[in-house]
Amino acid sequence: MCGIVGYIGKSQAAPIILDGLAKLEYRGYDSAGMAIFDGEKINIEKSVGRLKVLENLTRGGATMPGFSGIGHTRWATHGVPSDVNSHPHFNKNQTIAVVHNGIIENYIPLKKKMIANGYEFVSETDTEVLAHLLDYYYKGNPLEAITKVLHRVEGSYALGILFSDHPKEIYAVRKDSPLIVGQNEDGCFIASDVPAILKYTRTVTYVDNQEVVKLSADELHFYTVDEEEIQKESVTIDWDANAAEKGGYEHFMLKEIYEQPKTVTDTISPRIKDGDIVIDELNMTDEELKAVRRIHIVACGSAYHTGVTAKYILEGLCRVPVEVDVASEFRYRNPILEEGSMVIVISQSGETADTLAALREAKSRGFKVLGIVNVVGSSIAREADSVLYTWAGPEIAVATTKAYSAQLSALYLLAMKIGKVKGTISNELFASLLEDLKKLPYQIELLLGQKEKIQKFANRYVGAKDIFFIGRGIDYAISLEGSLKLKEISYVHSEAYAAGELKHGTISLIEDGTLVVAVSTQPELYQKTISNIVEVKARGAFVMAIATEDNVAMEKAADYTIYVPETNPYFANSLAIIPLQLFGYYVAVGKGCDVDKPRNLAKSVTVE
Ligand code: F6R
Repeated sequence: MCGIVGYIGKSQAAPIILDGLAKLEYRGYDSAGMAIFDGEKINIEKSVGRLKVLENLTRGGATMPGFSGIGHTRWATHGVPSDVNSHPHFNKNQTIAVVHNGIIENYIPLKKKMIANGYEFVSETDTEVLAHLLDYYYKGNPLEAITKVLHRVEGSYALGILFSDHPKEIYAVRKDSPLIVGQNEDGCFIASDVPAILKYTRTVTYVDNQEVVKLSADELHFYTVDEEEIQKESVTIDWDANAAEKGGYEHFMLKEIYEQPKTVTDTISPRIKDGDIVIDELNMTDEELKAVRRIHIVACGSAYHTGVTAKYILEGLCRVPVEVDVASEFRYRNPILEEGSMVIVISQSGETADTLAALREAKSRGFKVLGIVNVVGSSIAREADSVLYTWAGPEIAVATTKAYSAQLSALYLLAMKIGKVKGTISNELFASLLEDLKKLPYQIELLLGQKEKIQKFANRYVGAKDIFFIGRGIDYAISLEGSLKLKEISYVHSEAYAAGELKHGTISLIEDGTLVVAVSTQPELYQKTISNIVEVKARGAFVMAIATEDNVAMEKAADYTIYVPETNPYFANSLAIIPLQLFGYYVAVGKGCDVDKPRNLAKSVTVE
């Protein structure tokens, strides 16, 4: 949510900031703004709308000369998207400018106090409180003012700050919202995420909670909230810079769908060694794994859907009870975690506020947490006791595809590992699962080859009002994700149901021609799902089935069938999800939606 970029150095700041913000637009895109120091004063340009509006307003940054500045793309929390609510925000004399990602939870009492002190507020944002508080505490020493403010505010924040009477410095601060700083021979950078500055430098430092950074053209200095200077290690980012570019695809989402064979390979291959699964990062001995009596999986959105899938797999293969929670529920439901429980949190960004809070909740009760995370060095990756990285590379489209596939792959590995150690999987089954696992990337390639067929079918549904997804067992988990993919990017209302549940109410919504997508990849449930297909067809539904090749009865039962290659049924999600991702994508494209940046959404949900 919200993207921040800052620069100070030998080059013009505005074009660098605009360029970086373009890479962060997935974090928020309802308004954008920049503050640039022009040698005498700070100038701010900001506007509601996409970054393009700001680019046009500043002619690509040309109207805002200067060698230092901060910029922001917004995903509104406090105050509607509007010019005045856009960041940066000024103090009253326009000598301090602030951009903010996060939420200041105690902004109302602080605002009241500042009003009582004579400050006037022009916006509805929580951020403006910070600009006035900085003004209030500023006596010529930026670091002192910043740390005083940090002692007053509660909530989450990543901040970029400019002081006009300290023109050779910019400041950055972080608590529970992501922030990195980087450096090259030309200058220093602030960013919410690596892709924003990857073009300029690969040497970055992750800012930790409640640290303040002072950036000058050639130096980075780090401080605690008590103004003590600290030393920090930088890391070298080894991503391919092209990974954050569209590379000829119309949208990032399509590119990322096509990257899935590689993503799955990258996540599983390094962990398959000599016919075994080796997950060194688990930091758990076989004895500890054997002792696991219950598994709690906590995540949000699509990551939660991989958790639902994993429940079926872990319970099936390892015979361990698994509870799956949406993180925003887990954190407040006073969960019962018994001895012998293993807690797993799943997150692409590693920054999702609720998932991070759930992790902290589990840790505070003395439980070790395993993070399945994509973004290296993210908050969840750093706070988890052990991290199983999904090697999906940067995922830019707001709707996840390749990170979802990578999460599934990581969970397969984990289930097979635990099952083997516990002795609930025979050697024969293990060997056959391993063979099927290795085939998945190739089978995904085959499915991607069906793109045109799916596009044609999707074009028929660009005008659809409601679409339902049904399935049983793992097919239900697949349906949850298929439905989310469709609705979040195409704005077509859709719901996923356990196929047997539909007749307990929702079936009344089925009308003549309503599309029902039936997923059927679990052999022991083929017949049961067909019965449910018959039920909806009898009410007028048109049924598209996603079925495994050996499910011959589906040909007659459904109106239209997309077949997926055979694999072990536990791995079926990795294949069945591909046509569903493409279906959602093409319905959205057909409707002319902004696929990579769906309305109201942001990639990394750093507020609760
Ligand atoms: C949907 C989607 C979201 C995320 C959710 C969790 O396409 O991307 O539902 O899965 O916001 O995000 P992470 O995995 O970053 O914790």
